[in-house]
Amino acid sequence: METIAVLTSGGDAPGMNAAIRASVRAALSSGLQVYGAKNGFSGLVEDDFQRLHARSVTNILQRGGTMLGTSRSTEFESKAGRRKAAKNLKSHAIDGLILIGGQGTAEAALIFHQEYKIPSLVIPASIDNDVAGTDFSVGFDTAVNGAMEAIDRIRDTAESSGRIFFVEVMGRSRGYIALYAGLSGGADAIFIPEEKEDIEALCKRLVAGHKAGKSSFVVVVAEGEEAGGAFSVAERVTKQLEGRVGVDYRVTVLGHLQRGGTPSSNDRVLGTTLGAAAVEGFEKGASNHLVGEINNNIVFTPLEKLPSMERELPKDLLHLLHTVGTT
Ligand code: F6P
Repeated sequence: METIAVLTSGGDAPGMNAAIRASVRAALSSGLQVYGAKNGFSGLVEDDFQRLHARSVTNILQRGGTMLGTSRSTEFESKAGRRKAAKNLKSHAIDGLILIGGQGTAEAALIFHQEYKIPSLVIPASIDNDVAGTDFSVGFDTAVNGAMEAIDRIRDTAESSGRIFFVEVMGRSRGYIALYAGLSGGADAIFIPEEKEDIEALCKRLVAGHKAGKSSFVVVVAEGEEAGGAFSVAERVTKQLEGRVGVDYRVTVLGHLQRGGTPSSNDRVLGTTLGAAAVEGFEKGASNHLVGEINNNIVFTPLEKLPSMERELPKDLLHLLHTVGTT
């Protein structure tokens, strides 16, 4: 291997820049040439590459987003798009790919590898933390801390005005952000895609809480929960509470606020560790793997294994939320 390309794909995540920087610098130290593909897989298809040197990645570690840009490329989903991408890689003599992104990125990398056999390694980066083969994805820690801070702020106003707040956090198919932000922000309940909604149980707890003198409540709702988010949960909860207890409520959708911002120390360290590990992996002949961290160890998982791997929420944390939530 002589020349690699690095790209970021899917939803941007804080800490992607740390992973780019580490991949580039580790690759240069190993004597490889490095290109950055712009805007994810689109860069491969459209032949949009930039040579990267050690100085190209100066002063990016502390920045959110991704210096390479990202996209959810539809062209790369077609055979014709991937054919163009392979041709462009060949024309730059690129014989290795480091792909930084989430589940969709890993799936696209697998298909591309099956078709063109270009050695590829995926670094998990997604605020949703929905990628198997790693305990945490780059970006998750920063997103959770942002959501937790927002919940803290909301609690101040909820408490002062005696309201119920329904706070919607991101998480399309997984409730990691809701669980961690809810637990660390002292939420009274969370609604997540992994669990069946129980509106009646929440209402009972709210009524009991009111009777016991509790004046405000914070309910965290993952955008991907079964009814489709915080507005829907709020509507059904307040309807059921009608005639039982007077409620004043508000809904706050945190949205893309969770995607931006200065990456946390954890995300910078994780991005750096996995970026360097990917280059080391190439040196050892690894290809078509996800480079993750499990129990503080670097673990290479074959991409074709990922779809069948369970991505379960930590049961002990879920249980904790149920036992220390509203009483
Ligand atoms: O990257 C994951 C994510 O932030 C999800 O939580 C969210 O549903 C989605 O991306 C939003 O995507 P977009 O920025 O394309 O609207």
